[in-house]
Amino acid sequence: MELTVNGKPFTVDVPGDMPLLWVLRDVIGLTGTKFGCGIAACGACTVHLDGQPIRSCVTPVRAIAGYRVTTVEGIGNTPAGKKVQDAWVALDVPQCGYCQSGQIMSASALLAKNPGLTTATSTPRCRATSAAVGPTAGFVPPSSRRRADTRRKR
Ligand code: FES
Repeated sequence: MELTVNGKPFTVDVPGDMPLLWVLRDVIGLTGTKFGCGIAACGACTVHLDGQPIRSCVTPVRAIAGYRVTTVEGIGNTPAGKKVQDAWVALDVPQCGYCQSGQIMSASALLAKNPGLTTATSTPRCRATSAAVGPTAGFVPPSSRRRADTRRKR
């Protein structure tokens, strides 16, 4: 089976019903995409198919033939993904960090579809954070804004 991931061609010999997540992680070796729930509920496994966010844990690899897959390793090469990743670093967003790749992928898709967006909220299935997209086009969890405020006061 032929795949295009982050602009690169791959040939994989896997069953067609294998979830894309495991092809990315175990066959291609892109481990930035994470396994969380396995039932399309948490978003940790989010990747893009032609720019649309999908849950790779429940997507059989045969269903993506002909699509361009983008993972967290490649999202920084898109305008929206670059803005989100830059804001992520500037605002020191990571907490435990496990589901941040899924959050970055979801925020990048939202921002790409709504480039004028200045405010949005989300309730990801992560106990560590909720999130907002700020006016600098970053994905800004309220707890990170508090940490940034704390740093400025020091
Ligand atoms: S691991 Fe895919 S949505 Fe949770």
